Amino acid sequence: MNPDTPLQLLGGISAREFLRDYWQKKPLLIRQAIPDFQSPIDPDELAGLALEEEVESRLIIENGERPWELRRGPFAEDEFSKLPETEWTLLVQAVDQFVPEVGELLEHFRFLPSWRIDDVMISYAAPGGSVGPHFDNYDVFLLQGHGKRHWKIGQMCDTESPLLEHADLRILADFQGGEEWTLEPGDMLYLPPRLAHWGVAVDDCLTYSVGFRAPSAAEVLTHFTDFLSQFMSDEERYTDADAQPVSDPHQIQHDALDRLKALLAEHMGDERLLLTWFGQFMTEPRYPELVVGPELDDTELLDSLEQGAVLIRNPSARLAWSEVDDDLLLFASGQSRLLPGHLRELLKMICAADALHFDNLGQWLADDDGRNLLCELVKQGSLGFADE
Ligand code: SIN
Ligand code: CO
Repeated sequence: MNPDTPLQLLGGISAREFLRDYWQKKPLLIRQAIPDFQSPIDPDELAGLALEEEVESRLIIENGERPWELRRGPFAEDEFSKLPETEWTLLVQAVDQFVPEVGELLEHFRFLPSWRIDDVMISYAAPGGSVGPHFDNYDVFLLQGHGKRHWKIGQMCDTESPLLEHADLRILADFQGGEEWTLEPGDMLYLPPRLAHWGVAVDDCLTYSVGFRAPSAAEVLTHFTDFLSQFMSDEERYTDADAQPVSDPHQIQHDALDRLKALLAEHMGDERLLLTWFGQFMTEPRYPELVVGPELDDTELLDSLEQGAVLIRNPSARLAWSEVDDDLLLFASGQSRLLPGHLRELLKMICAADALHFDNLGQWLADDDGRNLLCELVKQGSLGFADE
């Protein structure tokens, strides 16, 4: 993809301009980002998903048993018929994993790293419905799917911003409204992290949120150090063979800090381990129980492909790849594999292709490393047979 091509999705600016001027910086309203957009899912189908055990869903009722009542799914069918006529919202997480046409929408966002994308959440709101004024710690593209929603944006927030007293929802106590727009199907609003926003349904409306993920600094440190500690022996300790006589035995001298800093720097600076951890961490699936595969060997895989079987990426799997010296690392749903450099094009294809079959896999099926990799990914559940 040429980063300088003007994109309809971004209102006629290029990916490069969008990243330079808006991404993580300021909001952008795009009229008809996807012209004539027809929601691939309707409100009844969304409600249907919210009945399922494995799907994460929430209902927010503005004037429920208490203000901004939050209920968590899965829901029973009759719960929906008992809801008021107005002012409630049903939110369903990761619809891209359950409805392939919703997953396909993510193709529009290929100008951003796929491992930064979290999921597509879809909300249905009755007229007047909203989740209240709030801010998120993530970037989001809000695509209007059906009906109209009136969006107001407000101030930049942080952990100090006053919130309403609520056990589960982070609703701003003080929303300082600024610009506002009514979005129609196909219109889209990009919001950077921490910008206050408030979207109220004008009529029955569906809104798609393409949400991004960025680990917090605390998560990076705790998870990376946990990962590193697996490779450290108990014998490796604080050492001070260079110690000098001390004038006060109760004082911690700065040379101790220098030794600690050296110890930390030695481990934290290990780029290969940092990359391995990061790739694994960023490809961890939201629903690991949906990433499981069958027992299979190379020959069975080859036979199936020869007979016309098609492999597709499991929509619940996450894939990414990287380089280390002359080798490659493939990250698949929280696991990493070090692979020989000649598999580069296969890795790219596995991460990007809609379908893998005998014709497009071609020579890779004759390559032991390639065939083996495909087989491992099927066994792990990151790839699956299309008809399964
Ligand atoms: C919604 O779709 O109602 C909420 C989306 C958001 O504000 O992040
Ligand atoms: Co939000």
